[in-house]
Amino acid sequence: MALAVRQFDAVVVGAGGAGLRAALQLAEAGLRVAVLTKVFPTRSHTVAAQGGIGAALGNMGTDSWQWHMYDTVKGSDWLGDQDAIEYMCREAPKVVIELEHFGMPFDRNEDGTVYQRPFGGHMQNMGAGPAVQRSCCAADRTGHAMLHTLYQRNVRARTQFFVEWMALDLVRDASGQVLGVTALEMETGEVVLFHARATLFATGGAGRIFAASTNAFINTGDGLGMAARAGIPLEDMEFYQFHPTGVYGAGVLITEGVRGEGGYLLNKNGERFMERYAPSAKDLASRDVVSRAMATEIKEGRGAGPNADYLLLKLDHLGPEVIDKRLPGIREIAKKFANVDPVREPIPVVPTVHYQMGGIPTNYHGEVVVPGRQGPNTVVPGFYAAGECACASVHGANRLGTNSLTDLVVFGKAAGDSVIRFLRENPGHKPLPADAAERSAARLARLDGQRGGESVHVLGNEIRRTMQAHCGVFRFPDLLAEGVQMIRALSDRVARSEIQDKSKVFNTARVEALELDNLIEVARATMVSAHARKESRGAHDRADCHDRPGFPNGRDDQNWLKHTLWYKEGDRLEYKPVNLKPLTAETIPPKARAY
Ligand code: FUM
Repeated sequence: MALAVRQFDAVVVGAGGAGLRAALQLAEAGLRVAVLTKVFPTRSHTVAAQGGIGAALGNMGTDSWQWHMYDTVKGSDWLGDQDAIEYMCREAPKVVIELEHFGMPFDRNEDGTVYQRPFGGHMQNMGAGPAVQRSCCAADRTGHAMLHTLYQRNVRARTQFFVEWMALDLVRDASGQVLGVTALEMETGEVVLFHARATLFATGGAGRIFAASTNAFINTGDGLGMAARAGIPLEDMEFYQFHPTGVYGAGVLITEGVRGEGGYLLNKNGERFMERYAPSAKDLASRDVVSRAMATEIKEGRGAGPNADYLLLKLDHLGPEVIDKRLPGIREIAKKFANVDPVREPIPVVPTVHYQMGGIPTNYHGEVVVPGRQGPNTVVPGFYAAGECACASVHGANRLGTNSLTDLVVFGKAAGDSVIRFLRENPGHKPLPADAAERSAARLARLDGQRGGESVHVLGNEIRRTMQAHCGVFRFPDLLAEGVQMIRALSDRVARSEIQDKSKVFNTARVEALELDNLIEVARATMVSAHARKESRGAHDRADCHDRPGFPNGRDDQNWLKHTLWYKEGDRLEYKPVNLKPLTAETIPPKARAY
């Protein structure tokens, strides 16, 4: 297929927090940078982040990056790489102050410093507690404030945005170097090849592989699908976080900041049940612990409501002043989606899929790494990833709340700096291979020519239902095994998906069909990786791996303290070691995890 080609120094795919932070670094360095985004930048999913960004500023009392690091390693159930975690926790205060200087409207203390609230799993004294106030917030609209701040800085820096463009496929040459992407302009249906000296993915997560999700409809794992089709493995995809408080029946997020400000969960008997599951941290235990406790309450018949299938989040005791000042968005969401005013009544909530801990493997510089000549973490030249689509890996088996915004900004900036270094050392564009656009051309031609195939909508729903039923909060070996077969069968059917409308201009059916190609790769990676991991760790809880003597909470460090790598080619798995060696701090050795 002969395509229009546009050349840039760097192309960034995705305009959420990570993409915007990376693009800013590049544009301010005077580089020609193109940012491709399916939606207007300020509508990216980062806008939905509510409760804050974690950084040990110490504005509300003593805190340190070492405490933040300890909490993050423990939160990850020791699967996080300690070099990357140290890097993130050390850089966090700097990037937050930088955001403040960019004009981000953080909430303030009387003395003018940034207000910080408590959040789950963030503790004082190397995990000993009590809770620390570490989450820097702009009421309960922190992601919204961050996106607008970063977008405006990018406009000032003259970043070039391509809005309503969907990246289709990665372009690699015979040596494996990444030379850009193909992308579809939704308005016209035209496909253009963005020939870049460096390509940076910040495409967000893929929570839309599940039926009940806090994620935006755009979160279809596009970057992961593109990487997988281009031969890059996906790391630790079995680990999906269920946020404890999604609105029952709607899935919309109710920030953990509610519990940070003093709200708590009740079962149908009015019991504050988290006291039984996490006697010390209670409602501020890490999300995997709280979500499992909630699922157990429901399973054992103590859920509220006519079907005993939700729990109650009580915050009326905070009073209308605190709610309106600190949690105004929550009050609106509760009224609109749950038909309750939290100033008077509790909000019905259930654990809801929220965050993908795994992704495209990177080091803490944001460089994409794969097994190769230089070992398990060989750098793929010209390819970078940051934010939820990447696996640095700082979140390991379970992310702490607020660490996702920290991750976006710290690694968005780091990846931007790595691109700048790479471009300095590698001047000029490498020539495109003759087959640069072949994969995209074949996908589009198949969709245009497909007759007698299956509806994209039906297939998408089947994927989501299968993931929800077979790979949920609690995982069972027989359901996982069946889930693998079902997702593989769905994968064959997705290869024959059909759209009725073959027109070009603003054909959203075509976009959804192309997204489905990405959803299925992520779903397959998740199910296959989850089926293979025979232990319980963080968000991956296997019913057949509980309470075995010598295995704290079902975790098996002897056999499973390792990262999963899933390859599309052959639907196969490899493993690589976890890095337990921080950059300068002492190793935090694995131990039993209790809150
Ligand atoms: O609960 C929340 O506000 C979500 C924050 C996060 O996922 O980090």
